[in-house]
Amino acid sequence: MKGIVFTEFLEMVEATFGLETVDYIINESNLKSEGVYTSVGTYDFIEMVNLITNLSSKVNIPVDTLIYEYGKYFFGVLIKSHPKIFDVYNSPIDLLSSVESHIHVHVRKIYPEAELPTFEILEQTKDSIQMLYKSERAMYMFAQALIEKTFEHYHDMAKVSLEKLNEKGTKVKFTIEKVYE
Ligand code: HEM
Repeated sequence: MKGIVFTEFLEMVEATFGLETVDYIINESNLKSEGVYTSVGTYDFIEMVNLITNLSSKVNIPVDTLIYEYGKYFFGVLIKSHPKIFDVYNSPIDLLSSVESHIHVHVRKIYPEAELPTFEILEQTKDSIQMLYKSERAMYMFAQALIEKTFEHYHDMAKVSLEKLNEKGTKVKFTIEKVYE
């Protein structure tokens, strides 16, 4: 997992719960990196699992909720670091249908070590898209947050529902329907 995912996560934890909580989860997590991350480095995903699990028990918020909130925060990071990508697409559905075929392809070129999910498009119309998320990391709540934020970015609204196709959530079907006000 790329360092930027760790550095921004710790920023969010500090802003929300304070520096003491950051120190606490780093100490509890027995990290190979010792909690020292650079945004361009690459670190074991297990370190993120340990940090989030320890944060969850410390602040008494479910892991899924924390990952969802972090996804919303991370969208802001993406907007700041890659503003031009968002000018390329005319609508949220247009953008979402290009994550697999264009956006993450580009990400992989910049960071060959990036661990990215795959999104298979099952169905697409002008106002809806159904995508199959697959990733060993089971970060489907992160995906849910990024999808919702993508609509918000274009001042649109959508109903986003997910169906876990296995218990761990390494395969999840997203059904996304644009909602008219
Ligand atoms: C500007 C657009 C985007 C950029 C630059 C981008 C880039 C990235 C990067 C750098 C990572 C971390 C890879 C790693 O840790 O090794 C990532 C992960 C991820 N991205 Fe994107 N992304 C973008 C848009 C999206 C959108 C719109 C979605 C949702 C449909 C999405 C879904 C995900 C998910 C779910 C992960 C977590 C890894 C996993 O589930 O295996 N991304 N992305």
